[in-house]
Amino acid sequence: MAKKILNIGMVGYGFMGRTHSNAFLQAGRYFDLQYQPVLKAVCARNAARAEAFAANWGYESIETDWRKLVDRKDIDLIDIASPNDTHAEIAIAAAKAGKIVMCEKPLGRTAAEAATMVGAVESAKVANMVWYNYRRVPAVMLLKQLLDEGRLGRIFHYRAKFLQDWTISQDLPQGGEGLWRLDAAVAGSGVTGDLLAHNIDTALWLNGPIRELTAMTETFIKQRKHNLTGKVEPVGIDDASAFLCRFQNGSLATFEATRYARGHKALNTLEINGEHGSAIWDLHDLHRIQWFDHRDEGRLRGWRSIHVSDGDQPYMKHWWVPGLQIGYEHTFIHQVADFLEALAAGKAAAPTFRDGLATDHVTDAVLKSAKSRQWEKVPEVI
Ligand SMILES: NC(=O)c1ccc[n+]([C@@H]2O[C@H](COP(=O)([O-])OP(=O)(O)OC[C@H]3O[C@@H](n4cnc5c(N)ncnc54)[C@H](O)[C@@H]3O)[C@@H](O)[C@H]2O)c1
Repeated sequence: MAKKILNIGMVGYGFMGRTHSNAFLQAGRYFDLQYQPVLKAVCARNAARAEAFAANWGYESIETDWRKLVDRKDIDLIDIASPNDTHAEIAIAAAKAGKIVMCEKPLGRTAAEAATMVGAVESAKVANMVWYNYRRVPAVMLLKQLLDEGRLGRIFHYRAKFLQDWTISQDLPQGGEGLWRLDAAVAGSGVTGDLLAHNIDTALWLNGPIRELTAMTETFIKQRKHNLTGKVEPVGIDDASAFLCRFQNGSLATFEATRYARGHKALNTLEINGEHGSAIWDLHDLHRIQWFDHRDEGRLRGWRSIHVSDGDQPYMKHWWVPGLQIGYEHTFIHQVADFLEALAAGKAAAPTFRDGLATDHVTDAVLKSAKSRQWEKVPEVI
């Protein structure tokens, strides 16, 4: 059967521009999809660099203004892989133009911003998705299946961390290319929106809604030179963020993210403790889940290390032979494949913008609680 062409308009050629371009190119080679993504245009403000990116990845054309990209009749899907301050404006314009919209995380810099984006895609009735890619690590997807089957029983605890160490130097400037994450006006927040948002999205998906939380944040380095003004300016982002919370299912949880954990580059971990067992996942060993089942025969009871690479485990039949690994980039390929399968079936693919809003409500509550020093309720997203 002839494939349906889906013309992609990509905004941004940075880190995520590369992972997404790769995913659109690869998905149809490994998954049997009705839609064929075509890299139609990439948009970034620097024409020469956009041209070079287009040549490398096979984009047919470039734009230097995202508005022109959104206006183009030959674009079906706008993919937003640019910094956080651009997400809302581009997504809303794209939805109004009737385009499918995929957007990087966090959806908005605040829940209020994210809510306007949800309103735009839902009133335009366009398919939408947020790139919370860690859901699509095969081991994490297996964990989701095991939890949905009730194998851990009642859940008591959830524990998540995302640790990095790249902003410890006082000399690191804030703002501009490569360092927009340190500029609160662009990023919205620091590690809360950048790192914890990943942990939160995975947690909401695995363990259900968070009802209330109490948080603390810290900005260890209070002033940095701003790359755009050349002046030393106050730092508005949180360098570290931690919170305690209660899920709707009654479980208690701790979450921590920082860019000041010397030695850690991207230690994204989660642990769940239930009535019948426990599970642990760690991005640095992304193919494995550590699994403990208390119902095992007593003499043999212990932690199992499950290498998720077999054909009957999530996604793996699309790849190599059992035992061989895949990596980070494959999570984006899985996300494109799932999105296009859902699109062909006329269904929504999670995480939708509405799911992204739920995470933004939690990150808002974290920042609010850190300021108020009070427990804060997390608004429900229905
Ligand atoms: N899912 C993940 O794991 C993950 C990982 C990294 C980043 N992200 C998210 O992806 C987004 C981009 O992050 P990144 O690391 O790729 O950033 P980056 O700095 O590597 O790239 C950003 C790109 O956006 C372009 N850009 C900036 N302003 C623009 C504008 N007005 N119009 C067009 N292009 C513009 C830049 O030229 C650059 O190409 C952010 O929202 C970030 O939070 C998600």
